Amino acid sequence: MNSGKQEIQIKRVSCQKRSRDGLKSHLTPARKRAAKPPPSTQPQACPKNWKLSSIMADIPAAEFCSDSEDLFGDYDSLLEDSSLLARLDSAEQTERQRSATDQLTSGFTSLRPANATAAACEDVLTDSILDVLGDEPFEDSQQPYLPASQHQFHQQVHGDASANKTSTPLRDPVAKRPRPALARRSVTEQLKRTMLGNAAAPSAVSRAAEMKDALVSEEIGVAARAVETAFAAETTDLGPFFGLPTKVKDLMFNLRGIQKLYDWQETCLNLDCVQQRKNLIYSLPTSGGKTLVAEILVLRELLCRKKDCLFILPYISLVQEKVRGLASLGLELDFVVEEYAGSRGRFPPVRRRSSRSVFVATIEKGHSLVNSLVESSRIQDLGLVVVDELHMLGDGSRGAVIEMTLAKVLYMSESTQIIGMSATLGNIRDLQTFLKAENYTNDFRPVQLKEYVKLNDTIYEVDPKEEDCFRFSRPLNFKYSSSMQKMDPDHIIALVTEVIPTHSCLVFCPTKKNCENVAAMICKYLKEEFLRHREAEKGVLLRALRDSGNGAVCPVLRRTVPYGLAYHHSGLTSEERKLVEEGYSSGVLCLLACTSTLAAGINLPARRVILRSPYVATDFLKRSQYKQMVGRAGRAGIDTVGESILILQDKDTKMAKTLVSAPMENCYSNLMHDEGKGLLSLILSLIGLNIATSLDQVKDFLCGTLLSVQQKQLLAETSLTETVRRLVGLLENKRLIAVTTESHGGQTLQVTKLGRATYKGSVDLSYSEVLYRDLSKGLEGLLLNSFLHLVYLVTPYDMIAQCKPDWMLFFRQFTLLSATEQKMSAAVGVPESFIARKAAGQTVRKGVDMEPVRRMYLALVLFSLLKETNLWSVADRFQLSRGFVQSLLSSSSAFCSCVLHFTQELEELWPFKALLTELTRRLSYCVKAELIPLMEVAGVMESRAKQLYNAGYKTLSHLANADPAVLSNTIENLFKKQANQIVASAKMLLNEKAAALQEEVDELLTMPSDLPSAAKTQQPV
Ligand SMILES: Nc1ncnc2c1ncn2[C@@H]1O[C@H](COP(=O)(O)OP(=O)(O)OP(=O)(O)O)[C@@H](O)[C@H]1O
Ligand SMILES: [Mg+2]
Repeated sequence: MNSGKQEIQIKRVSCQKRSRDGLKSHLTPARKRAAKPPPSTQPQACPKNWKLSSIMADIPAAEFCSDSEDLFGDYDSLLEDSSLLARLDSAEQTERQRSATDQLTSGFTSLRPANATAAACEDVLTDSILDVLGDEPFEDSQQPYLPASQHQFHQQVHGDASANKTSTPLRDPVAKRPRPALARRSVTEQLKRTMLGNAAAPSAVSRAAEMKDALVSEEIGVAARAVETAFAAETTDLGPFFGLPTKVKDLMFNLRGIQKLYDWQETCLNLDCVQQRKNLIYSLPTSGGKTLVAEILVLRELLCRKKDCLFILPYISLVQEKVRGLASLGLELDFVVEEYAGSRGRFPPVRRRSSRSVFVATIEKGHSLVNSLVESSRIQDLGLVVVDELHMLGDGSRGAVIEMTLAKVLYMSESTQIIGMSATLGNIRDLQTFLKAENYTNDFRPVQLKEYVKLNDTIYEVDPKEEDCFRFSRPLNFKYSSSMQKMDPDHIIALVTEVIPTHSCLVFCPTKKNCENVAAMICKYLKEEFLRHREAEKGVLLRALRDSGNGAVCPVLRRTVPYGLAYHHSGLTSEERKLVEEGYSSGVLCLLACTSTLAAGINLPARRVILRSPYVATDFLKRSQYKQMVGRAGRAGIDTVGESILILQDKDTKMAKTLVSAPMENCYSNLMHDEGKGLLSLILSLIGLNIATSLDQVKDFLCGTLLSVQQKQLLAETSLTETVRRLVGLLENKRLIAVTTESHGGQTLQVTKLGRATYKGSVDLSYSEVLYRDLSKGLEGLLLNSFLHLVYLVTPYDMIAQCKPDWMLFFRQFTLLSATEQKMSAAVGVPESFIARKAAGQTVRKGVDMEPVRRMYLALVLFSLLKETNLWSVADRFQLSRGFVQSLLSSSSAFCSCVLHFTQELEELWPFKALLTELTRRLSYCVKAELIPLMEVAGVMESRAKQLYNAGYKTLSHLANADPAVLSNTIENLFKKQANQIVASAKMLLNEKAAALQEEVDELLTMPSDLPSAAKTQQPV
């Protein structure tokens, strides 16, 4: 069945595998170090068998993992420990009695790890992985004159290993057990049972599991009733844990290492407006812990109110991280986590009777999802919409999309609550008016931030209250050779070696190239002791980098990683970026030289943040950018203070003073951005969705937008009415809508087929006509014995401008095409003769449209990628950065899915449906077809998928039913923790797919409510 097939292809509950491999257990996971390690802890040891639960309260917590960490660690191994389960069993009974009398005890203070026995960490690197630690040494690595801080490090380096030990968090074993039988035994339940059976759970397990499940259901019931009562009575009495079962509290501790909510988090969750489910905007500085509040509200909506939730995040990588973070909670608490990013996500979403979903979406996908829910009259199912980084409302066309989404939710579903998280803004009142929301603001930071600037040889503390803004702090302590002075005139090495490698450091650089240069330059002057710091783990990281590059390692990383340094920018592949991030989180890497993109949303704090200059490319920093970067300083639970140092030249001092003391920026509507493009597409979708079918209704809707709130500032010269009239005329001219004049004189607005395809495919209005033309022309002679033609048709128009063909390369690649491929190329306006002339440097007669030519060049890159599935060699061949090639690939897969939705609305384009469904899948993974089902599982990247496939694990079902112990024994370099994670993720994905199929079966077998009755049918005609 086609639709079922499509569902399986695009719907996933977890992250994209290409971006994250199971490096986690090699590179020790992110952790929060306890002030004092437990007595049994050995240097460099990994505590293996410890369990966190409120029922075992005696042993103090040693270390906890952050939310980016392994979520399924040692999940199964606990099931095998029957004595633990027996203790658990009896302890649960005690706990049950206790919780009945003590439901309102708040906080996490009673939670303790059960068993802090530390086992020595396996030596994960027994052989020399890459011969790079010493390969091509930097000539000057033994500089006679080094900063004083490096001499200090020389003394420290051998005695400090204990600070870098890691933990392996365990999951609550009871969560793994079967749930009590439900009235209808669904495919999902059967699968769960079978798989849990495979995990060889002893009888003690099921008894404990039943008790635990009963306890959880009871608590959810109590909580749900408490929430209902609270809403009715407007009281603050919500139940055991902010209206949620105690199990959620345990999970937050087990999975996130959160012992207790911050005071502001408790206050915020207890606000009257929150309990009454009013809309809310809360703004706090970077790293204030905003996410947790939103997640608790999401869980409350899912578990207690049984409503779906939408979580909107600005980047695909953040969506994937959130999906990963919520997946384990979903497994435990029986809700579905669905990813809406890139080419993933089904519109409308699968209707689920037995469980609720949280849709984690990018801004664009979130908008399409809301459209599909409005269209299928299901918007009321959405209980809560959370928008992270709400201030992005002011960010160009993406801001316009957030505004459209929220305005539609506000207009169409009063019962849907909206929660926005934001950095501090100057005009939050405007946003409040738009969202009819309350506001909660707090300037809490878990770690104090000290801001400094460096000017010449002196460090000044930033104090905006002082007249001069900068107060003398200290002279910079350094002793440079003349060659060092020449290489590093800004004394970056002196600044970083005051903290690394014991502490972490981020160096923000103005350009990508500068990141690489800075990382390489610092390494050149580091002492050899740096090489020995966590040497084995750095070797593992390098090997993982090499595997991710199919044998190739970036030459800069090859030189810097052995010293514990790396660079981070969009030129890396997402797999490399993820490995670098994980290496940094775990402390294996102590310094990242990065661009400002790292500051946006990724949780990678540092003891010291250095801003290499007050510029991003050639633009002077904005206040918000500065705040976001310096806000990364200070790691909660590790540092007592975080410091930022902005390196200044004399010429920039005046502007820098304004930068550090200016008030926060304002946020403005972007519906009028780019000549009103946002408003134009909003009006089109309003008409298409039947939200508005007349000018008056359009205006009525627009009264609920941020644009309307800020009308005076943004539409000073024309009124909103006039603007709407003009834009409706424009849509009519583009034949996207039809305007009919009724007999009473009024006008009815209706969307045309092309208009419907345009908004349904989220196609940019300026490209919809050309897309339709290209696709129609394509049908006249579609080349189907090769992917080239189809790939050409889904190469995104908005990337064409970035393409500057290398004509020689172009010609060489062109000559490798088959005769039919060349013919197709000529048919779209790119003949061989033209490319040959360009390659020969000859002038070409005028009148050649360059758009198809550039598009064909990009299509050739994609075509090569699909054929070879080796990003590195393709990037090399076309002399493009691998980061660019990857972003071309991901944009194309996203656009391919847009074109698919576009063609589905236009009967004449029917042949594309099946073709583009498959092409989307291929572009999304770009690996050999047989690896795709494995790579759908969170944590399985291409190299791992190959290993698994070769070992006989060929399908999702193989993985879901695998025994993690066997898996980890069979697969080289796969540790138990990773094996557990893979199996658990596969189980969840399989459950989710099975549940979707079950829903389909149920729907097919349900008797239609409007079936003609017997009485009616027997009536004489
Ligand atoms: N109550 C808590 N106790 C300990 N750690 C916490 C607590 N709440 C949140 N954290 C941790 O603090 C870190 C930062 O939290 P979070 O990502 O929510 O910050 P944020 O406010 O969203 O910052 P940003 O503006 O950078 O997105 C995370 O690692 C999170 O797990
Ligand atoms: Mg955040």
